[in-house]
Amino acid sequence: MNCNTQILFWAILCSCIINRIYSRKNNIFSASNLDSFVLACGASSSATDADGRNWIPDTEFLNAPEKTTSANAQSQDPSLPSNVPYMRARIFKSESTYKFSISPKERHLIRLHFYPSFYNNMNCFDAFFSVTVGGFTLLNNFSASITAQALTQAYIVKEFALIPLKSGALSLTFIPSTSYEDSFAFVNGIEIISMPKIFQPAPFVGFSDMSINAEYYTMQTMYRLNVGGQFIPGTNDSGLVRTWYDDSPYLFGAAFGVTSKASKNVSIEYPSTVSKYIAPVDVYITARTMGPNQTVNLNFNLTWVFQIDINFTYLVRFHFCEYQMSKVNQRVFNIFINNQTAYPAADVIAWAGGEGVPVYKDFAIHVDDQSGDDQLWVALHPNVTYHPEYYNAILNGLEIFKVNDTKGNLAGPNPVPSPTPKSPENRPFSPSKSSNHGRVVGVVLGTVAGFGLLVAGIAFFSCGRKKVVEVTSCTGSWLPLNGSSRSSGTKTSKNSGSSRFTSSGGGLCRHFSLAEIKLGTNNFDDSGVIGVGGFGKVYKGYIDGGTVVAIKRANPSSEQGVHEFQTEINLLSKLRHCHLVSLIGACDEDNEMILVYDHMANGTLREHLYKNSKSCLSWKQRLDICIGAARGLHYLHTGAKHTIIHRDVKSTNILLDENWVAKVSDFGLSRTGPTVNETHVSTVVKGSFGYLDPEYFRRQKLTEKSDVYSFGVVLFEVLCSRPALDPSLSKEQVSLAEWALLNHQRGTLEAIIDPHIKGQITLDCFKNFAEIAVKCLSDNGVHRPSMGTVLWNLEYSLQFQNNPNGPEVVAEQKANDAYNMHTTLLTIEEEDEVCEERGEHSANAVFSQIVNPQGR
Ligand SMILES: *[C@@H]1O[C@H](CO)[C@@H](O)[C@H](O)[C@H]1NC(C)=O
Ligand SMILES: *[C@@H]1O[C@H](CO)[C@@H](O)[C@H](O)[C@H]1NC(C)=O
Ligand SMILES: *[C@@H]1O[C@H](CO)[C@@H](O)[C@H](O)[C@H]1NC(C)=O
Ligand SMILES: *[C@@H]1O[C@H](CO)[C@@H](O)[C@H](O)[C@H]1NC(C)=O
Ligand SMILES: *[C@@H]1O[C@H](CO)[C@@H](O)[C@H](O)[C@H]1NC(C)=O
Ligand SMILES: *[C@@H]1O[C@H](CO)[C@@H](O)[C@H](O)[C@H]1NC(C)=O
Ligand SMILES: *[C@@H]1O[C@H](CO)[C@@H](O)[C@H](O)[C@H]1NC(C)=O
Ligand SMILES: *[C@@H]1O[C@H](CO)[C@@H](O)[C@H](O)[C@H]1NC(C)=O
Ligand SMILES: *[C@@H]1O[C@H](CO)[C@@H](O)[C@H](O)[C@H]1NC(C)=O
Ligand SMILES: *[C@@H]1O[C@H](CO)[C@@H](O)[C@H](O)[C@H]1NC(C)=O
Ligand SMILES: *[C@@H]1O[C@H](CO)[C@@H](O)[C@H](O)[C@H]1NC(C)=O
Ligand SMILES: *[C@@H]1O[C@H](CO)[C@@H](O)[C@H](O)[C@H]1NC(C)=O
Repeated sequence: MNCNTQILFWAILCSCIINRIYSRKNNIFSASNLDSFVLACGASSSATDADGRNWIPDTEFLNAPEKTTSANAQSQDPSLPSNVPYMRARIFKSESTYKFSISPKERHLIRLHFYPSFYNNMNCFDAFFSVTVGGFTLLNNFSASITAQALTQAYIVKEFALIPLKSGALSLTFIPSTSYEDSFAFVNGIEIISMPKIFQPAPFVGFSDMSINAEYYTMQTMYRLNVGGQFIPGTNDSGLVRTWYDDSPYLFGAAFGVTSKASKNVSIEYPSTVSKYIAPVDVYITARTMGPNQTVNLNFNLTWVFQIDINFTYLVRFHFCEYQMSKVNQRVFNIFINNQTAYPAADVIAWAGGEGVPVYKDFAIHVDDQSGDDQLWVALHPNVTYHPEYYNAILNGLEIFKVNDTKGNLAGPNPVPSPTPKSPENRPFSPSKSSNHGRVVGVVLGTVAGFGLLVAGIAFFSCGRKKVVEVTSCTGSWLPLNGSSRSSGTKTSKNSGSSRFTSSGGGLCRHFSLAEIKLGTNNFDDSGVIGVGGFGKVYKGYIDGGTVVAIKRANPSSEQGVHEFQTEINLLSKLRHCHLVSLIGACDEDNEMILVYDHMANGTLREHLYKNSKSCLSWKQRLDICIGAARGLHYLHTGAKHTIIHRDVKSTNILLDENWVAKVSDFGLSRTGPTVNETHVSTVVKGSFGYLDPEYFRRQKLTEKSDVYSFGVVLFEVLCSRPALDPSLSKEQVSLAEWALLNHQRGTLEAIIDPHIKGQITLDCFKNFAEIAVKCLSDNGVHRPSMGTVLWNLEYSLQFQNNPNGPEVVAEQKANDAYNMHTTLLTIEEEDEVCEERGEHSANAVFSQIVNPQGR
């Protein structure tokens, strides 16, 4: 971690606290008193976290420490960012209070860190508790375990902005629930930090003359996104140690718009009305805009959807900074919140007064349960009333805060975890032998940790109209029909004739009759076989009088679990994404297990790379394919309600449609990420040699980082045009992963690039691409990037490729060139064409059902 001035700043602050000195620091928060309490709860001495931040013990702030206990977590989830403060907790069996002496008249940020695990054999699944401060209820009947499980996160951070208290004493009280026997409360870390005045009155959406004065409310941070940009860690925030997340998991529909980054020489100048505490520069130098085609832009809304608690008022803060336009009326758009116009004809340049000037706008909206929906929709759409130069919209950052209700409450219910697949039987990771609990440590693996962010399980990316495409050389495995990896107690109940999955599938998965399938495959005629694997055969078939599909039929003689089959189908049929091969339906009549998929015309990525290549893909095409596949995997990991691990990422599982759009297939072999009781999924090792994550292989430890490893191998396959394993080569060359890493170490990576494309790759693009591919192959999963980061870096490489002078130079092109720039910065050309129009028209009706299923 870079030791930048902020870290220094915090280090200085912390030491001040240790010495219990309230130093008066000028030019920070206009010379007011500063508080910063950063407590590692249960710790006996100070310690620094992975970012170099110092956490001090909490004992002296507890009014009755003897009534509490402290303990170490019994297991460490690999996705924890740091041991401090997560691996130790303070445990409260009865109501307990922390007291802090703070400066009155100032707002304070309160962050509570929870890592649900086992502490002294106490299972955090038993912990239900409330947390109150200064008359406000921050949490009530809170279960960190359930929350973490539902969000598939290992740890939970809850952040609140407490209004100035009249007195200089802040009491933070933990109250175990009385509704449950054995209930207790726990906390791993507490931060209490002074914050400057960054809230003002905000207009109420839907009421022309109403506003709320946000200054007088305590708030909970629900979402904080660096729109169009990357994750920003607390160390890179502008002084408040806030974490900013990537917005892509929350995008709704198939139209992602286009992301861009400001050129290096566009300097971001905060005006006097925007303090740097509002948001760091990193938020303002990246943005998401609509797309290059104005006709298309007029037909869709750039939309984000968030899961929220109903019966609360929300403050929605939009951050803008224009670095592509410089004049008024070049880019004018409407802002909608929950389908109501929050602001018509927004013009960032008109607000800010020029380019490179940050500006933010707040709006308040009340969400009641009239709609029966716990979602907040934010949408942007061009406003053409005054004939702006471009029909487009832009957003740089977005924050959503929940404001306290009339009773001073901020607590919502625990989220409801969706039914999880049964856990494997003999998980090696049960608690240590001393524990006879027989339960497994309560941890979840997750990439997106944060303020209890609800990763939009609702944001199904729709592709609409079925593509007619081919699945060839479908290899090996498919659904774990044997249930070998997770079968546990459930017996395979064969149920002839009747179909059961359709009822529980919520109608998302189409049910085919066996007659239809037989008709479509000419009674399983072998001439239609396009693939054979351990599970049975894949046929090219026809449904609905001519639509080409791929039909996979499980070998009727094999032992299969109907129940697993159904569970799997229900899971898969809910996944819709432009870069995933869609499951159209299934048939389970007569003990048959048949799945019907989209058919992909251009086959597998592998067959276009080598092995008598049908065609030689250009470097640009290859990069586009990698980006598409990365997007599909990113969606599997973060876009669905549960993390889904593919487990068999390889070039034969990346299929290409007739427009060369990459789609990930065979995620039927996948299983959902670890649930709360598991630190990771441990299963029989599956996957393909040459792509296997060494960590997974050694320890049977499956995380989504295993997919990242395999994808790294695919990236080198694409770069070098050679198989992942080639036994005919010399020993050090057999494994592509090892060979590539070796060449990277020696600095000879360029020498192994496929000669066909060598001349096409720009140096910067190559460097970027190689760097991310090498990182994917890190031996230790923790050191591998997330799929989101991989995606971002591939897009970045593409920008270098499209403009040899690098993305910065591209972004410099000003107003009139803005659209050329869009095309060059373009990240999702194909999706614009392939998905957008469909998402908007024919598909809308179908997918609004998916997006908004009743009773969810
Ligand atoms: C954080 O800031 C440092 C220094 O400014 C920079 O090198 C680093 O890349 C940043 N990290 C992220 C994730 O933005
Ligand atoms: C950025 O630099 C280029 C030349 O390097 C210059 O033409 C352009 O005006 C600069 N932009 C700004 C905002 O300074
Ligand atoms: C924009 O999209 C429309 C509809 O998809 C298409 O007809 C038109 O050719 C596109 N325009 C450009 C400039 O690509
Ligand atoms: C929301 O408020 C309404 C009216 O007060 C109430 O009937 C409803 O039960 C509340 N819903 C929830 C989930 O609290
Ligand atoms: C907004 O509109 C969309 C469809 O146009 C609908 O699915 C969604 O439920 C609406 N959202 C709210 C909060 O009313
Ligand atoms: C965009 O959203 C607004 C508000 O929900 C809606 O009225 C409008 O029809 C939407 N436009 C398109 C093209 O979907
Ligand atoms: C565009 O903005 C104008 C001016 O604020 C507003 O009156 C108009 O309704 C907006 N147009 C649309 C289509 O929302
Ligand atoms: C927030 O809580 C305070 C203190 O309980 C209360 O005075 C205020 O009315 C609450 N805000 C709202 C919107 O009810
Ligand atoms: C507490 O939360 C649990 C789990 O979400 C829920 O089942 C229970 O009904 C809640 N209890 C109360 C008193 O709200
Ligand atoms: C976790 O373990 C507890 C105790 O064994 C059990 O009640 C609970 O159902 C398990 N949860 C999951 C998701 O397996
Ligand atoms: C499925 O079961 C069959 C027969 O019981 C066995 O041969 C095969 O190896 C199993 N497949 C998997 C993936 O475990
Ligand atoms: C890719 O698909 C297109 C459209 O279906 C087809 O014309 C082309 O021949 C295919 N190319 C290969 C190499 O299969």
